[in-house]
Amino acid sequence: MEKKKIIELLNLDLQDEHGAIIQYLSHAYGMGEGEVACEIEAIAREEMRHLDWLAETIVALGGKPSLERGTMNMAGKTVPEWMSNDVGLEQGAIDHYGEHIRAIDDPRVKRLLQRIVADERAHHGKFEHFIEKAKKEGLKDIRGNRSDSLSRSLNWGVGHEYTVILQYMFHSYMTPDPEARKQLEDQAVNEMQHLGWLAEELVDSGGSPVIEHTAVDRATGAAAMLRADIKVEKEVHEKYGRIADEVDDAGTKALIQRIRNNEGYHIEVFNDLLKEAEGK
Ligand SMILES: [Fe+2]
Ligand SMILES: [Fe+2]
Ligand SMILES: [Fe+2]
Repeated sequence: MEKKKIIELLNLDLQDEHGAIIQYLSHAYGMGEGEVACEIEAIAREEMRHLDWLAETIVALGGKPSLERGTMNMAGKTVPEWMSNDVGLEQGAIDHYGEHIRAIDDPRVKRLLQRIVADERAHHGKFEHFIEKAKKEGLKDIRGNRSDSLSRSLNWGVGHEYTVILQYMFHSYMTPDPEARKQLEDQAVNEMQHLGWLAEELVDSGGSPVIEHTAVDRATGAAAMLRADIKVEKEVHEKYGRIADEVDDAGTKALIQRIRNNEGYHIEVFNDLLKEAEGK
């Protein structure tokens, strides 16, 4: 099989992983804190590792990782229905990986997909178990419909964090500089924490997280990507400052300030990397 065709198939798998991550996180946040939510977040983290392995393999083959998101199934009103939709999503992944393992002849890529599909089989079993557990424990959708300026600000933050996670991950895969790669990945992981904190705060305060992203910068030159990353960090650093000033609740204020402080650190890290990329 030609490299180009392998890259196409791996990008389809990557898009499926992306969709699974967002579907599972939405379900975990929607049911509030608890053992099942924690286990679902752990599954979402395994899907992130899959996405990471696929993206690195795509780059090694000379391709670009896709930023598109695969089909999600956000239907269902009850937690058992959500869990049954997650079983369905895992079954779809198992089927797609099976087809790609049969079609691809590169032994290393085949081995990677076999490694991933073993996880998907385990996830499938876990979600089946969660259907029963959710029924037994009476787990419910605890999201509210609060839509005042606080929940709008928190949802703005969720969207922003999702956008920069994709942007820094993409830049980390495409940068030629190993130090920049490591730093971009580290900061993307920190943005994942921010997304989780904001989404949980939203649900706790009676809102409902909307996990949708805005435009992602797709620069591939070392300096161009860092300039785009510094620009967005400066904007968000300022915006979180304004949100923290407006918030009355001490706990929420402290959370926003903690996130803002992290963004300030990102600006400094990216500035240092940019200086090196520009040879200063
Ligand atoms: Fe996966
Ligand atoms: Fe999975
Ligand atoms: Fe952030």
